[in-house]
Amino acid sequence: MKKNIDVKRLGQAFRRVRAASFCVAAALSVPLAAQAATPPTQSDAALIAHGEYLARAGDCIACHTAQSGKPFAGGLKFDTPIGAIYSTNITPDRNTGIGSWTFAQFDRAVRAGVRPNGDTLYPAMPYPSYARLSDDDMHALYAYFTQGVAPVNQTNRAVDIVWPLSMRWPLGIWRYLFAPDPAAFNSKHYADPMVARGAYLVQGLGHCGACHTPRAVTMQERALSDLDGAEFLAGGAAIDGWVPSSLRANPRTGIGSWSEADIVQFLKTGRTQHSAAFGGMTDVVQHSMQHMNDADLTAIARYLKTLPSTDPKETPYVYDDTAARALRTGDASAPGAAVYRDNCTACHRSDGRGYTRVFPALGGNPVVQGKDATSLIHVLLTGNTLEGTKTAPSSFTMPAFGWRLNDQEVADVTNFVRTSWGNTGSTVSAADVAKVRKTVTVHAPEMPPGAALSH
Ligand code: HEC
Ligand code: HEC
Ligand code: HEC
Repeated sequence: MKKNIDVKRLGQAFRRVRAASFCVAAALSVPLAAQAATPPTQSDAALIAHGEYLARAGDCIACHTAQSGKPFAGGLKFDTPIGAIYSTNITPDRNTGIGSWTFAQFDRAVRAGVRPNGDTLYPAMPYPSYARLSDDDMHALYAYFTQGVAPVNQTNRAVDIVWPLSMRWPLGIWRYLFAPDPAAFNSKHYADPMVARGAYLVQGLGHCGACHTPRAVTMQERALSDLDGAEFLAGGAAIDGWVPSSLRANPRTGIGSWSEADIVQFLKTGRTQHSAAFGGMTDVVQHSMQHMNDADLTAIARYLKTLPSTDPKETPYVYDDTAARALRTGDASAPGAAVYRDNCTACHRSDGRGYTRVFPALGGNPVVQGKDATSLIHVLLTGNTLEGTKTAPSSFTMPAFGWRLNDQEVADVTNFVRTSWGNTGSTVSAADVAKVRKTVTVHAPEMPPGAALSH
């Protein structure tokens, strides 16, 4: 898994504020309540187990494990326009990991984004979300990472960013300007304790906003909670060519028509009658959400259902059978209809309803109607696999079409699914498809020896 963060823009923003160098001093002396906290008693198995559960809720493993690397030993690459950075070794190895870190040092890194030597972390580490974790949860995480994880001797990779852009002091200014001071979550805003628990998990460990909330040019999330405004979880920019959709109550482009049970099922299994997980959400389901207990998943769903729609004019989805009737009567004259009939109906069916929890429905699916069609073009070009989970072990694969459909055909079929069966997505052009094609790897399927591919 690779992620992109726009550090170039960040750099531009820093240059603007460079004159205010007093900020640096101020940033580095941000008071940290956490420093006074005491470490947990050793050998508390229950505390370690609780810490493991929380580490799952925080999805630490997804970012801190390299492809085919040892768990939590770091080394996963995060591409930025000015070079790459790598996640770090957070196993308790004393020389290369965090084995010699005190609780206060660990706490300061996770909740405030500051290393023991005073360096600020890149916000690829979602410390602006973790800032609201409770002291108790921090103690449990510390117990797990110092006593429950196997130490791995693996030296951290230095950033591949050339000096002077590699200097970390601008990150300190960014932190001062945009990251909240670590302050435990305040549940008094939420009358229902279940909603409060969900808010704590979504805004904190789950760091759902890191992907699902739009970012400003200076890269901070435009809202870190629902209290900051309607942009919270209103849908983020594409990451690695996959668009995190809106988690608000918008009836077509958000999850307004999903029930609490639908959301729980999606988080647990990556599939509902509405859609199937892909992109970064696959990791979230695999490593994090499928391991949460039902009470926590219900709390998350209940909280998400409290977030109002951002667009009062967005009408509820209503199924329309025009496209299905045309396909069934042999009329494939609409642009993209023939491509759809020849390549897609076997799985998604002519009525666009798919096969529940096997092949996702395309009619009424929020990701199919979202403003940004990048994910759709991406999934058509490269295909993707819906991975099995503990409670839904079967896995299903969408084949790649990029090797045999040209940009115009992909655009046509994208538009066909975005506007059929009652869908109301905007349309895309062949040029849009060409742009996405440049950023993804399109593999042709493996052929048996002697066989040849034809278009
Ligand atoms: C979205 C990706 C992501 C997630 C999720 C994540 N981290 Fe990180 N973390 C990073 C990156 C990248 C760095 C290194 C940043 C840098 O070099 O400035 C980092 C740095 C750290 C550091 C500082 C280590 C050092 O040697 O400086 C600690 C401690 C840490 N993470 C702990 C955690 C814990 C605990 C969790 C789960 C609760 C977690 N991280 C989840 C990406 C992530
Ligand atoms: C062999 C069965 C199969 C065929 C053929 C197929 N798909 Fe899919 N499609 C899937 C599966 C499985 C997924 C879920 C993939 C995932 O979640 O990673 C999917 C996902 C999608 C999605 C994303 C929706 C979501 O919620 O995940 C779109 C859009 C889509 N397919 C469109 C098409 C179009 C258009 C065609 C024809 C060009 C097509 N598919 C052909 C099986 C198929
Ligand atoms: C690493 C990025 C990332 C993070 C973190 C993330 N998501 Fe997602 N999420 C996505 C992407 C991309 C999609 C769109 C593809 C899909 O439907 O799976 C998505 C889709 C979803 C959907 C389905 C919406 C739809 O219309 O199909 C739900 C529900 C969801 N996410 C909930 C969450 C929750 C709750 C969290 C936090 C616990 C979270 N996500 C964290 C990337 C992320």
